[in-house]
Amino acid sequence: MRPQKIIRTMVKDASPGLERFRAEVMHGLRKPQKELPSKYFYDDRGSYLFELICTLDEYYIPRTETAIMADCIEEITELIGPGAFLLEYGSGSCQKVRLLLDNLDNPTAYTPIDISGQQLLQVSQELSADYPQLEVLPVCTDYTGNFELPVPGGYCARTVVYFPGSTISNFDPVPAIQFLEHVAGVCGEGGGLLIGVDLKKDPAILHRAYNDSKGVTAAFNLNLLERINRELGADFELDAFEHYAFYNPGESRIEMHLVSLREQEVHLGETTIPFHMGESIWTESSYKFSLDDFEQMAARAGFRVKQVWTDPQNWFSVHYLENSLLER
Ligand code: TRP
Repeated sequence: MRPQKIIRTMVKDASPGLERFRAEVMHGLRKPQKELPSKYFYDDRGSYLFELICTLDEYYIPRTETAIMADCIEEITELIGPGAFLLEYGSGSCQKVRLLLDNLDNPTAYTPIDISGQQLLQVSQELSADYPQLEVLPVCTDYTGNFELPVPGGYCARTVVYFPGSTISNFDPVPAIQFLEHVAGVCGEGGGLLIGVDLKKDPAILHRAYNDSKGVTAAFNLNLLERINRELGADFELDAFEHYAFYNPGESRIEMHLVSLREQEVHLGETTIPFHMGESIWTESSYKFSLDDFEQMAARAGFRVKQVWTDPQNWFSVHYLENSLLER
C-alpha cells in the first residue's frame, strides 16, 4: 500500500535573485552583439503574454503538439508504464501535462519546474486538488543551472522528463546537448524523455508564427525591457525599440531581436549603454530541426529514440527517448 499522500505544494524556491538578474543583463548588454537571456521573459506579465501567444492561430506549435499527443496518448502511456515519476521542465500553466496525468497508469509523483514562482504555486495547488493520489513536488528555479530535485515518498518505477513546446529550440546547439545530458542523468538508466521538437518548414509559416498580426509576440519581447526598467531601474524607452523576428535558414533558426529605432543611450545604475540606430539586442533563438538532426543531437547526449510521432503536415514532432548511456 502506498503511504498517505502528504500535501506538499510549498514551492522549493531557488529562483535567480535581483543581483543575478542585474549581472546577467549587464553581461549581455556589454557584448558586441548585445543580448539578453530569454529566461527573464517570464515575469507575471511575460507568462501571461506567452499563454496568449499559445492561443494564436499563427503560432501553430501548441495546437499541433496537442493534437499529436491526443492521437498517440495510448502509445505514449504504454511506453512510460505504471508508477512513473514525472518531471516537467518549464511547466508554465501545467495544462499540457493533464493529458498525461489523465491517461498514465498510476503515476507516483509530478514535479513541475519553473522560474515563475507565483504561477507555479497556484497551478501546483490546483493539480494537487485535481489529482489527490499524486504527489505534487514543485521546484521554482532556473532549470539551466544546478538545483536539487525532490525525492517522492512513494515507489517510482521509472523517471520520465516531460519537455513539451519545443523549448529545446531555445538553446544553442552546445547548451542543448549539455541540457539533454543533464536530463539523461536525471532520468537514469531506463528513464525517458518525452519531448516536443519543432520541425523545419516553409519560412513563411515560421515568419507568421513569430510575427503575429495582433502584435502579442512583439509585446512579449518588449516586456523584457519593461521588466528591466521596473526591477533594475533602467530607462529603456519602449517606443524606441521594435520587435524584429526572422528565419535564418543557414542556422536553421528563428532569431528574435529588439532593434533600436534611433541612436540613443540607456542607463542601468552607473552604466551607460549606447545604441546605434538599427543596432539590436538578440533576445531569443528558436532552432528548427529535421527528425535526423534531432536524433543525432539526442544520441550525443546519451538518448536513443524509442518512438517519434508527427502531425500529417510534418510541422511538429514528439519524441520518446530512452537513456541509453550504458550502450555508449
Ligand atoms: N519554445 C517555443 C518556440 O521557440 C516558445 C517560445 C519561446 C516562443 N519564446 C518565444 C514563442 C517567443 C513565441 C515567441 O517557439
